[in-house]
Amino acid sequence: MESVQAIKQRFGIIGNTPSLNRAIEKSIQVAPTDISVLVTGESGVGKESIPKIIHQLSHRKHNKYIAVNCGAIPEGTIDSELFGHEKGAFTGATQTRNGYFEVADGGTIFLDEVGELPLTTQVRLLRVLENGEFIKVGSSKVQKTNVRIVAATNVNMFEAIEKEKFREDLYYRLSTVDIHLPPLRERREDIHLLFRKFASDFALKYKMPTVKLTDNAVQVLTKHRWGGNVRQLRNIAEQLSVLEQDRTISADTLRGYLPTSGTNLPAVVKTSKSESDFSSEREILYKVLFDMKSDLNDLKKLTMELMKGGNIKDVEKDQEHLIQKIYGEDDNESEVYEEPVQETEVLSIPEHTATPDEVVSVQDKYHFAEEIQEEETLSLHDKELELIKKSLERHNGKRKLAAAELGISERTLYRKIKQFDL
Ligand SMILES: Nc1ncnc2c1ncn2[C@@H]1O[C@H](COP(=O)(O)OP(=O)(O)OP(=O)(O)O)[C@@H](O)[C@H]1O
Ligand SMILES: [Mg+2]
Repeated sequence: MESVQAIKQRFGIIGNTPSLNRAIEKSIQVAPTDISVLVTGESGVGKESIPKIIHQLSHRKHNKYIAVNCGAIPEGTIDSELFGHEKGAFTGATQTRNGYFEVADGGTIFLDEVGELPLTTQVRLLRVLENGEFIKVGSSKVQKTNVRIVAATNVNMFEAIEKEKFREDLYYRLSTVDIHLPPLRERREDIHLLFRKFASDFALKYKMPTVKLTDNAVQVLTKHRWGGNVRQLRNIAEQLSVLEQDRTISADTLRGYLPTSGTNLPAVVKTSKSESDFSSEREILYKVLFDMKSDLNDLKKLTMELMKGGNIKDVEKDQEHLIQKIYGEDDNESEVYEEPVQETEVLSIPEHTATPDEVVSVQDKYHFAEEIQEEETLSLHDKELELIKKSLERHNGKRKLAAAELGISERTLYRKIKQFDL
């Protein structure tokens, strides 16, 4: 059996807290069985690694692993996505389609955000869990599948059961084994370790020297509440790596990146905390994104001129203002932004199962850049709304592609769609 340390190395999991080690140990123990597992923990604690560990250490590892973000699939299509449909089952069902439970026969399905499943789908899922049976939408034929289910949630399932949003019998069936990942504030000794790892990764990615924290900054970092957990820490390490010229980060500089810095007032309401935590980060990220897109747009114009076969000297003369804009004032910055800031947080189906429509082409992003430039005067809120709308339109409502283009998780996009009533 592989050791906890070896697994951490293999799956890129950083940290040494006993509670984290226990969660990994539990995953190793449960992997060879077919027992259903429910991974619990706040947003951003690293739940998505657990089903991967379980699949890879199981006898199913040579079969499919499919990760489904239940919160990101519209209610009307989720049954068809999971269980498939017959030709003519509904308008637009021009062909019979196999669902994930059929495709993943012999493998593992990771049901992320399982708390978001509609009640009708929960009934179908219960049946699969109980006897491996399912029926395609629009069919009456019972089919069999042999799929191991790992689910994850960051919501309080007991509350969901109480509010009758989640079936109690399904909950007990899913959570035969419960693997809980602790929030970052309960893993203080891992915080600096994680930061150093992320800082070194981003230094490589952006080809910059690694940012380092002063002793005081380490104190600030360690004491922070980290409402968004490891994801938030990673985002801040990225922002610092991209934006700070001085690679030694002082406590004051760091505070500037932390939301509601310095206040640990009990009056802060927990439920709204995670939202507010990200607003200032988002603002900074938007700025980076806008600048980057604008540069990209300019570069494309320039490349186009050169491709038209123009003489380099003529292009240099005609496009002097553009060249000055791109390379003139901010040499260092344009180097920083040569790679998209976008985090590849697309629905976590591993590469071997990715379908071509998950790939966002670079051309798609060209229009994106154009539109952002026109909307400089709008408020951040309006910009966000507009960006989401445009992106969804461009991808015919496909959230996965829109989320990838916007550089946010599908779940965040889903929340935004609800929030803006799109
Ligand atoms: N221990 C860790 N070591 C290294 N990276 C980690 C660790 N935990 C989390 N991360 C990183 O933090 C980010 C968030 O993790 P993940 O997507 O698994 O969160 P989650 O628990 O699924 O959150 P949510 O409930 O919001 O979906 C990812 O980029 C992940 O790689
Ligand atoms: Mg997740």
